[in-house]
Amino acid sequence: MKKVDEQKNYIKEIKDLNKNNKDLKYCILTMGCQLNENDSEKLCGMLEEMGYTKTDNFEDANIALFNTCCVRENAEDKLFGKLGELKRIKEKNGTIIAIGGCMMQEQHIIDKIKQSYPFVDVIFGTHTLYRFPEDLFKALQTKEKIKDVIDIDGEVFEGLPIKRDSNIKASVTIMYGCNNFCTYCIVPYVRGRERSREPRDIINEVRELAKEGYKEITLLGQNVNSYLRVEREKNIPFEEYEGVNSFATLLRAINKIDGIERIRFVSPHPKDFTDDVIDAIASSDKVCKLIHLPLQSGNTKVLKEMNRKYTKEQYLDLVEKMKNKIPNLTLSTDIIVGFPGETDEEFEDTLDVVRKVKFEQVYMFIYSRRVGTPGDRMPNQVPEEIKHKRFNRLKELVESQIEENNQKYVGTIQKVLVEGTSKNNPNMLTGRTDSNKVVIFEGDKDLINKMIDLKIESEHMWYLKGVSI
Ligand code: SAH
Ligand code: SF4
Ligand code: F3S
Repeated sequence: MKKVDEQKNYIKEIKDLNKNNKDLKYCILTMGCQLNENDSEKLCGMLEEMGYTKTDNFEDANIALFNTCCVRENAEDKLFGKLGELKRIKEKNGTIIAIGGCMMQEQHIIDKIKQSYPFVDVIFGTHTLYRFPEDLFKALQTKEKIKDVIDIDGEVFEGLPIKRDSNIKASVTIMYGCNNFCTYCIVPYVRGRERSREPRDIINEVRELAKEGYKEITLLGQNVNSYLRVEREKNIPFEEYEGVNSFATLLRAINKIDGIERIRFVSPHPKDFTDDVIDAIASSDKVCKLIHLPLQSGNTKVLKEMNRKYTKEQYLDLVEKMKNKIPNLTLSTDIIVGFPGETDEEFEDTLDVVRKVKFEQVYMFIYSRRVGTPGDRMPNQVPEEIKHKRFNRLKELVESQIEENNQKYVGTIQKVLVEGTSKNNPNMLTGRTDSNKVVIFEGDKDLINKMIDLKIESEHMWYLKGVSI
């Protein structure tokens, strides 16, 4: 891991540079998905080793860092809004501004930053995240503007420092990139092709987390159930470890690690949900039975245009099969409304699937045109007001289902991993069920980071109230 060692040297160099200044701070804003959050934990790890401590206020920060997302347009608005604000702060405090992440892999965004926000000090991409120490060192030393973005797939780097947000739940990235090219999605262009981490590195990381006292692990990737698939298909060498050579075997191996009590994963792709994965979920007691199964649309023609590679019927059949094989299964999903060409009738199919499956949670998105994707070039874009109307109809249906579904919890006993005190009420504790529902209850702080049984007394749309038994 020579390249990572080089970066560790830069970390030391910056630490040296900073040795006379004890009160150095960084502030980081992370947008986007859990993969980005996990990347940010690595950036925080690097900065902490350089001697910086975290602040939540850009005004107090020596380094302002943005880890960006570009999956939908609103993320762009957010970044540019914040940069306007930071210009003033930089003029006053001399803050170093660094921007990384998915948006920096887009040339039109880099051009816009160069033109309208020339005061940004460091720009780095998704494939060069590991080189952040070197980029920052150069910016600090030379005061020059650094741009370090490459368009070749990044390698898989191990051994970067990490500062995790929680000491109860940890996320572990198992693979990078995406090969699916759904026609609405920018991710494959900004994250490159699929590549998996070595089984040994993942297992050892989870073992280490268990030793540190973590109870819940979330395995991350854009398409987790194709873990090691490219490697197997293209004969790219990897080392089997503890019998792990696929996603199913990875789940089984992690299930055996003492100390870990819950395993979650996001996101699997319906087209890759093979029987071995279903069987592994069913027979691994620590794997949570809430499965995120992105639907995107319930209409077969729209799904084809989206390049999702399954039909409405195949999705529903898969759900049936999973329900039959996995006791206590609950499902969550992602849905896009207003994909180009989607008619009112086709949208009805989406509502139909939602009615039939009764998801535990639905993440709903209005289609957003992304430069460079096939969807953006499609001629039949849906007018904004129609997209909004459909979104509201879907939202109404989903909310009525959540209310109905919550009722089912009242009176039941649920296993809850206690995460801490409730933000809204410091006298109450908060935790989550297997199905990821928030439960608040009265209890002793000693219960934090423990799995306990709670009796659910009432439901309140976004949370449940429980009592110890
Ligand atoms: N790889 C994951 C997640 C990808 S991004 C998966 O396949 O499920 C998270 C979600 O954002 C997607 O599931 C999709 O619902 C939504 N999304 C992606 N591109 C979008 C776009 N252009 N407009 C609106 N929503 C989008
Ligand atoms: Fe995007 Fe599709 Fe890949 Fe998910 S699977 S990241 S939606 S291209
Ligand atoms: Fe966004 Fe990049 Fe994740 S585009 S959703 S942060 S992979």
